[in-house]
Amino acid sequence: MSRKKIALVGAGNIGGTLALLAGLKDLGDIVLFDVVDGVPQGKALDIAQLSTVAGFDSKLAGSSKYTAIKGADVVIVTAGVARKPGMSRDDLLGINIKVMQAVGEGIKKNCPNAFVICITNPLDAMVWVLQQASGLPANKVVGMAGVLDSARFRLFLAEEFNVSVEDVSAFVLGGHGDTMVPMVRYSTVAGIPLPDLIKMGWITRKRLNEIVDRTRNGGAEIVGLLKTGSAFYAPAASAINMAESYLKDKKRVLPCAVSLNGQYGVRGMYVGVPVVIGAGGAERVVELQLNASEKAMLNKSVGSVKGLVDVCKGIMKGTP
Ligand code: APR
Repeated sequence: MSRKKIALVGAGNIGGTLALLAGLKDLGDIVLFDVVDGVPQGKALDIAQLSTVAGFDSKLAGSSKYTAIKGADVVIVTAGVARKPGMSRDDLLGINIKVMQAVGEGIKKNCPNAFVICITNPLDAMVWVLQQASGLPANKVVGMAGVLDSARFRLFLAEEFNVSVEDVSAFVLGGHGDTMVPMVRYSTVAGIPLPDLIKMGWITRKRLNEIVDRTRNGGAEIVGLLKTGSAFYAPAASAINMAESYLKDKKRVLPCAVSLNGQYGVRGMYVGVPVVIGAGGAERVVELQLNASEKAMLNKSVGSVKGLVDVCKGIMKGTP
């Protein structure tokens, strides 16, 4: 059996970390692609040298030509630019739409059977553009956000309760932004839901609300600290979890941005929901019964994703 091939489109902070983690987990051979010639080659060579010390056999290559991603089984996309001072949200969208269109074309030509994970922000809109541009089936193009947002929520809860992160499970619904919906009712410590932990006196509702808010602003908190960039270790690890579930057909149930087809009352849009990730890609959306307040929060989040996608549609038609 030949080794799997993982293509990383964008060899910046997240791209480099993805290559390192994919190597350490021995997921397959790795190719880094970036428009800035030299960077993907340099990072590939550095990690290849690390492989001898760490003891893994992944082959690493770097390139600024799309042909390098030929035949990839998984493509993880981080290409794009981050918002800079003075740049409006629409300026950023305009640039990253063009990047997603170029990347989508490259995927369509070189690896149309790949499972594609988008990380580029604004995530829920960019993954939609990428799916449209690549023409790949919607179940093979997903966005990484929920695993990261849930990881942040889990960490904050584990720290609050002083228990192992392994025993805290949590997930969030909705778009990747401050309208995301951390699902308190379905988040647990060793199977005990958070509302029960409030009753047991482990935490107050007020403190839990503070943790929910911190989760919603988890990305901004790191940007505020780093000042020159955004989070990259945890986003990379989250996408690697999704890639591993696909490559090994683990069928993990992970919150991902997937194209909905009527579930949660949403059609033709990417929204974060729990989904089974296996060899078939996004195999099955888990549709929860939401209560009235969860439904209202999700609708608000879907509304903000729709607003972004509508702006994208306008820009793509040349009428922003
Ligand atoms: N094709 C390929 N790569 C590109 C293109 C393109 N058209 N345009 C830009 N890039 C590359 C840049 O050269 C850079 O190396 O994308 C890389 C982005 O890397 P960073 O700026 O370091 O950003 P990173 O922290 O990795 O985040 C990437 O993920 O979480 C999101 O908001 C984040 O949208 C951002 C993305």
